[in-house]
Amino acid sequence: MSQREFERRRRGLLRMMPADSIAILPAARERLRNRDVHYPFRQHSDFLYLTGFPEPDAVAVLAPGRKQGQYILFCRERDPKKEVWEGRRAGPEGAVEHFGADDAYPIADMDEILPGLLEDRRRVYYTMGEDTAFDHRLIGWVNQIRAKVRAGAHAPHEFVELAHVLHEMRLFKSRWELTRMRRAARVSMEAHERAMRRCRPGLYEYELEAEYQYVFRRAGMVPSYPPIVGGGANACILHYTENRDRLEDGDLVLVDAGCECEGYAADITRTFPVGGRFSDAQRALYELVLQAQEAAIRKVRPGNHWDDPHRAAVRVLTRGLVELGLLEGDVRKLVRNEAYKRFYMHRTGHWLGLDVHDVGEYRVGEQWRLLEPGMVLTVEPGLYVPADLEGVDRRWWNIGIRIEDDVLVTKEGCEVLTAALPKRVEEIEALVGQDA
Ligand code: GLY
Ligand code: MN
Ligand code: MN
Repeated sequence: MSQREFERRRRGLLRMMPADSIAILPAARERLRNRDVHYPFRQHSDFLYLTGFPEPDAVAVLAPGRKQGQYILFCRERDPKKEVWEGRRAGPEGAVEHFGADDAYPIADMDEILPGLLEDRRRVYYTMGEDTAFDHRLIGWVNQIRAKVRAGAHAPHEFVELAHVLHEMRLFKSRWELTRMRRAARVSMEAHERAMRRCRPGLYEYELEAEYQYVFRRAGMVPSYPPIVGGGANACILHYTENRDRLEDGDLVLVDAGCECEGYAADITRTFPVGGRFSDAQRALYELVLQAQEAAIRKVRPGNHWDDPHRAAVRVLTRGLVELGLLEGDVRKLVRNEAYKRFYMHRTGHWLGLDVHDVGEYRVGEQWRLLEPGMVLTVEPGLYVPADLEGVDRRWWNIGIRIEDDVLVTKEGCEVLTAALPKRVEEIEALVGQDA
């Protein structure tokens, strides 16, 4: 049951908080797209992590030791007239009944109630700087209490970064979370496979994108980030999302697309030939990226550090680039001088979870963080050779390749959550265009 999972997280946070502290966490705000049209609402990941509450205009409060209940939720009141226009609301009653709040109040009453909750709490867990309007309100409430010190009130005198505590929790995925991540991975893999089957020269990038959107929506999911569908030269633009050009025979197309399940992201990239056959140059670079990815994945195991997969990928790529004549010189020196950055300018991965570039520290002090079971990361090396790159033979031009999978660190090593999606040259050539 989901409510138990959210309760377990709140208990975990409450256990870390001293008795005289309080945590305050506002929900995401609705954002205007144009005039009176909003962007689709996406809950703030920290808020979602602790509450599972899907609405805007809400504030969660955790007050350890509070007799009437430790978890208080402020939210919009039920309003039959507004709900006809804007959709259903849980209301404070629903917040208690369905979302596990011990106590719930209308958000409109927050100015009256929150200062009372803050009084006599010395330490406030709060993430400053994410919602400046809310920062100001909070400072206002604290000042109200300060004004009453002569009447015996105690104002909080210490602010603690709530995000830091929460993000450490979010880095380690529970069974419940992994179930969602596996679902997101499964649907994302299905989308990639469908797109490969239906790909053919003459399609537009947005038409290929539509295959992804179709599979995501059919599963009740949404993209976890704007899909990147780049054919030919566009594959060399890392954050290309216009997706508006024609896919040409002889080009590769790079697709970086994944969906989210109950907020949990998948993040997958596959690169395949639009016409179904790799050219010799494309294949050579593709095999190299695949080799680098496999070497990096082998480094994902407990006790290795965060940078080990990246280092493995960089070594393989640099050696391969020298063998293919794209780099010249001693491999070790080229690695040290970061010569590979001409063709490989990003890192090999990131944490994955409620955010596609998920939270969690990558370093502890001066050291890279050690990998531990329950962490999920992407492994996504690539090579990008735009046209006109000086000193590069034109047969390599306009080839952009990335191969990205989602990997869970396990006790024994790792599990590739997206392993069922083909990535070997022969598999891809067999698949592309099958249903075109
Ligand atoms: N989709 C963004 C990334 O791969 O990091
Ligand atoms: Mn990624
Ligand atoms: Mn990606």
